[in-house]
Amino acid sequence: MAKIGIVYYSMYGATYELAKAIAQGVEKAGGEAHLRRVPDPLLPDEVKASDGVRESIEAQSEVQLADAAELEEFDGIVFGSPTRYGSATSQLQAFLDTTGGQWQSGALVGKAAGFFTGAATMHGGHETTIMSMATFAMHHGMAVVPLGYGNAAEVGSTTTGGSPYGPTQLGNGDGLSDDEESIALAYGDFFNGIADKLAA
Ligand SMILES: Cc1cc2nc3c(=O)[nH]c(=O)nc-3n(C[C@H](O)[C@H](O)[C@H](O)COP(=O)(O)O)c2cc1C
Repeated sequence: MAKIGIVYYSMYGATYELAKAIAQGVEKAGGEAHLRRVPDPLLPDEVKASDGVRESIEAQSEVQLADAAELEEFDGIVFGSPTRYGSATSQLQAFLDTTGGQWQSGALVGKAAGFFTGAATMHGGHETTIMSMATFAMHHGMAVVPLGYGNAAEVGSTTTGGSPYGPTQLGNGDGLSDDEESIALAYGDFFNGIADKLAA
Protein backbone atom coordinates (compact mmCIF):
# COMPACT_ATOMS: atom_id res chain seq x y z
CA MET A 1 0.00 0.00 0.00
CA ALA A 2 1.46 3.36 -1.03
CA LYS A 3 1.89 6.06 1.58
CA ILE A 4 1.08 9.42 -0.01
CA GLY A 5 1.83 12.85 1.46
CA ILE A 6 -0.38 15.74 0.37
CA VAL A 7 1.50 18.89 1.31
CA TYR A 8 -0.28 22.17 0.67
CA TYR A 9 -0.92 25.78 1.61
CA SER A 10 -4.41 27.28 1.57
CA MET A 11 -5.38 30.74 2.75
CA TYR A 12 -9.13 30.76 2.00
CA GLY A 13 -9.72 27.01 1.92
CA ALA A 14 -10.09 26.20 -1.79
CA THR A 15 -6.72 24.45 -2.07
CA TYR A 16 -7.57 22.59 1.13
CA GLU A 17 -10.78 21.33 -0.53
CA LEU A 18 -8.74 20.08 -3.50
CA ALA A 19 -6.23 18.43 -1.14
CA LYS A 20 -9.06 16.57 0.61
CA ALA A 21 -10.53 15.36 -2.70
CA ILE A 22 -7.12 14.10 -3.85
CA ALA A 23 -6.73 12.31 -0.48
CA GLN A 24 -10.13 10.70 -1.00
CA GLY A 25 -9.03 9.46 -4.43
CA VAL A 26 -5.85 8.00 -2.93
CA GLU A 27 -7.78 6.22 -0.17
CA LYS A 28 -10.42 4.87 -2.56
CA ALA A 29 -7.60 3.33 -4.59
CA GLY A 30 -6.28 1.58 -1.48
CA GLY A 31 -3.49 4.03 -0.62
CA GLU A 32 -2.80 5.83 2.63
CA ALA A 33 -3.18 9.62 2.36
CA HIS A 34 -1.54 12.03 4.80
CA LEU A 35 -2.64 15.67 4.61
CA ARG A 36 -0.01 18.15 5.75
CA ARG A 37 -0.29 21.94 5.74
CA VAL A 38 2.85 24.05 5.53
CA PRO A 39 3.59 26.56 8.30
CA ASP A 40 2.46 30.14 7.69
CA PRO A 41 4.70 32.61 9.50
CA LEU A 42 4.16 35.23 6.79
CA LEU A 43 0.51 36.22 7.03
CA PRO A 44 -0.04 39.30 9.27
CA ASP A 45 -2.29 38.72 12.31
CA GLU A 46 -4.94 41.15 11.03
CA VAL A 47 -5.26 39.14 7.81
CA LYS A 48 -5.45 35.89 9.81
CA ALA A 49 -8.33 37.41 11.76
CA SER A 50 -10.20 38.67 8.69
CA ASP A 51 -13.43 37.14 7.32
CA GLY A 52 -12.84 34.08 5.19
CA VAL A 53 -9.28 33.53 6.37
CA ARG A 54 -10.25 33.07 10.03
CA GLU A 55 -12.78 30.32 9.22
CA SER A 56 -10.33 28.64 6.85
CA ILE A 57 -7.58 28.56 9.51
CA GLU A 58 -10.04 27.08 12.01
CA ALA A 59 -11.16 24.41 9.53
CA GLN A 60 -7.56 23.34 8.97
CA SER A 61 -6.47 23.44 12.60
CA GLU A 62 -6.58 19.62 12.89
CA VAL A 63 -4.30 19.13 9.88
CA GLN A 64 -0.76 18.24 10.96
CA LEU A 65 2.06 20.60 9.95
CA ALA A 66 4.39 19.49 7.17
CA ASP A 67 7.93 18.55 8.06
CA ALA A 68 10.78 18.10 5.57
CA ALA A 69 12.16 14.97 7.27
CA GLU A 70 8.75 13.28 7.09
CA LEU A 71 8.76 13.55 3.28
CA GLU A 72 11.31 10.73 3.27
CA GLU A 73 8.66 8.35 4.67
CA PHE A 74 6.21 8.90 1.80
CA ASP A 75 6.22 6.87 -1.43
CA GLY A 76 4.86 9.88 -3.28
CA ILE A 77 4.10 13.50 -2.47
CA VAL A 78 1.53 15.83 -4.05
CA PHE A 79 2.20 19.53 -3.47
CA GLY A 80 -0.48 22.21 -3.67
CA SER A 81 -0.62 25.98 -3.52
CA PRO A 82 -2.98 28.72 -4.70
CA THR A 83 -1.70 30.94 -7.47
CA ARG A 84 -0.01 34.17 -6.49
CA TYR A 85 0.72 36.34 -9.52
CA GLY A 86 1.08 33.20 -11.59
CA SER A 87 3.40 31.30 -9.21
CA ALA A 88 3.15 29.35 -5.98
CA THR A 89 2.75 31.14 -2.64
CA SER A 90 5.78 32.14 -0.58
CA GLN A 91 4.43 29.88 2.14
CA LEU A 92 4.70 26.75 -0.01
CA GLN A 93 7.99 27.91 -1.49
CA ALA A 94 9.40 28.55 1.99
CA PHE A 95 8.57 24.98 2.95
CA LEU A 96 10.16 23.59 -0.21
CA ASP A 97 13.27 25.58 0.70
CA THR A 98 13.59 23.57 3.94
CA THR A 99 14.32 20.39 1.96
CA GLY A 100 18.01 21.12 1.36
CA GLY A 101 18.99 18.13 3.52
CA GLN A 102 16.83 15.78 1.46
CA TRP A 103 18.25 17.22 -1.75
CA GLN A 104 21.80 16.70 -0.48
CA SER A 105 21.22 13.12 0.66
CA GLY A 106 19.04 12.21 -2.34
CA ALA A 107 16.28 11.04 -0.01
CA LEU A 108 13.48 11.88 -2.46
CA VAL A 109 15.12 10.51 -5.63
CA GLY A 110 12.73 8.27 -7.59
CA LYS A 111 9.63 9.09 -5.57
CA ALA A 112 6.47 10.24 -7.32
CA ALA A 113 5.65 13.97 -7.23
CA GLY A 114 2.49 15.77 -8.27
CA PHE A 115 1.11 19.28 -8.15
CA PHE A 116 -2.22 21.05 -7.78
CA THR A 117 -3.34 24.65 -7.63
CA GLY A 118 -6.22 27.10 -7.73
CA ALA A 119 -6.75 30.56 -9.15
CA ALA A 120 -9.57 33.08 -9.06
CA THR A 121 -9.59 33.70 -12.81
CA MET A 122 -9.69 31.44 -15.85
CA HIS A 123 -6.39 32.57 -17.33
CA GLY A 124 -4.79 33.71 -14.07
CA GLY A 125 -1.95 31.19 -13.88
CA HIS A 126 -3.00 27.57 -13.24
CA GLU A 127 -0.47 26.15 -15.68
CA THR A 128 2.37 28.51 -14.81
CA THR A 129 1.94 27.77 -11.10
CA ILE A 130 2.10 24.01 -11.60
CA MET A 131 5.03 24.28 -14.00
CA SER A 132 6.96 26.52 -11.61
CA MET A 133 6.39 24.13 -8.69
CA ALA A 134 7.48 21.17 -10.81
CA THR A 135 11.12 22.34 -10.98
CA PHE A 136 11.33 21.38 -7.30
CA ALA A 137 10.67 17.73 -8.21
CA MET A 138 13.14 17.83 -11.08
CA HIS A 139 15.93 19.09 -8.84
CA HIS A 140 15.19 16.33 -6.33
CA GLY A 141 15.14 13.66 -9.05
CA MET A 142 11.51 12.86 -8.39
CA ALA A 143 9.22 11.43 -11.07
CA VAL A 144 6.67 14.10 -12.03
CA VAL A 145 3.20 12.57 -12.40
CA PRO A 146 0.79 14.74 -14.38
CA LEU A 147 -2.85 13.76 -14.92
CA GLY A 148 -3.00 13.84 -18.73
CA TYR A 149 -6.24 13.67 -20.65
CA GLY A 150 -6.65 9.90 -20.47
CA ASN A 151 -7.33 9.45 -16.78
CA ALA A 152 -10.49 11.53 -16.40
CA ALA A 153 -12.88 12.33 -19.24
CA GLU A 154 -13.76 15.66 -17.57
CA VAL A 155 -10.28 17.07 -18.28
CA GLY A 156 -11.23 17.48 -21.93
CA SER A 157 -14.55 19.18 -21.28
CA THR A 158 -14.35 21.11 -18.00
CA THR A 159 -15.21 24.80 -18.08
CA THR A 160 -14.11 25.27 -14.46
CA GLY A 161 -10.90 23.76 -13.04
CA GLY A 162 -9.05 20.53 -13.68
CA SER A 163 -6.16 20.22 -16.12
CA PRO A 164 -3.84 17.68 -17.71
CA TYR A 165 -1.07 19.19 -15.56
CA GLY A 166 -2.85 18.24 -12.34
CA PRO A 167 -5.98 19.03 -10.34
CA THR A 168 -6.93 22.70 -10.24
CA GLN A 169 -9.73 24.87 -8.93
CA LEU A 170 -11.23 28.02 -10.41
CA GLY A 171 -12.99 30.66 -8.38
CA ASN A 172 -13.03 32.36 -5.05
CA GLY A 173 -14.23 30.33 -2.10
CA ASP A 174 -17.35 28.92 -3.74
CA GLY A 175 -16.39 25.25 -3.29
CA LEU A 176 -15.30 22.72 -5.90
CA SER A 177 -17.32 22.23 -9.06
CA ASP A 178 -18.38 18.68 -9.95
CA ASP A 179 -15.65 18.48 -12.61
CA GLU A 180 -12.99 19.78 -10.23
CA GLU A 181 -13.95 17.20 -7.65
CA SER A 182 -14.09 14.28 -10.14
CA ILE A 183 -10.73 15.25 -11.61
CA ALA A 184 -9.12 15.53 -8.16
CA LEU A 185 -10.51 12.11 -7.20
CA ALA A 186 -9.24 10.57 -10.45
CA TYR A 187 -5.85 12.15 -9.90
CA GLY A 188 -5.57 10.71 -6.37
CA ASP A 189 -6.34 7.27 -7.77
CA PHE A 190 -3.87 7.58 -10.66
CA PHE A 191 -1.09 9.10 -8.54
CA ASN A 192 -1.44 6.38 -5.92
CA GLY A 193 -1.03 3.69 -8.59
CA ILE A 194 2.13 5.25 -10.02
CA ALA A 195 3.65 5.86 -6.56
CA ASP A 196 2.93 2.25 -5.66
CA LYS A 197 4.67 0.96 -8.80
CA LEU A 198 7.68 3.19 -8.28
CA ALA A 199 8.01 2.08 -4.67
CA ALA A 200 7.80 -1.63 -5.57
C1 LIG B 1 -1.90 38.06 -3.17
C2 LIG B 1 -2.77 37.25 -4.06
C3 LIG B 1 -2.38 37.03 -5.38
C4 LIG B 1 -3.22 36.32 -6.24
N1 LIG B 1 -2.82 36.13 -7.54
C5 LIG B 1 -3.66 35.52 -8.41
C6 LIG B 1 -3.32 35.37 -9.79
O1 LIG B 1 -2.22 35.70 -10.23
N2 LIG B 1 -4.25 34.82 -10.62
C7 LIG B 1 -5.48 34.42 -10.18
O2 LIG B 1 -6.30 33.98 -10.99
N3 LIG B 1 -5.80 34.47 -8.86
C8 LIG B 1 -4.92 35.00 -7.98
N4 LIG B 1 -5.24 35.08 -6.65
C9 LIG B 1 -6.45 34.37 -6.17
C10 LIG B 1 -6.17 33.01 -5.54
O3 LIG B 1 -5.19 32.28 -6.24
C11 LIG B 1 -7.45 32.15 -5.54
O4 LIG B 1 -8.48 32.88 -4.90
C12 LIG B 1 -7.28 30.81 -4.88
O5 LIG B 1 -8.44 30.05 -5.15
C13 LIG B 1 -7.15 30.90 -3.36
O6 LIG B 1 -6.89 29.61 -2.84
P1 LIG B 1 -7.10 29.31 -1.30
O7 LIG B 1 -8.60 29.41 -1.05
O8 LIG B 1 -6.61 27.91 -1.10
O9 LIG B 1 -6.33 30.31 -0.51
C14 LIG B 1 -4.43 35.76 -5.76
C15 LIG B 1 -4.80 35.97 -4.42
C16 LIG B 1 -3.99 36.70 -3.58
C17 LIG B 1 -4.41 36.90 -2.15
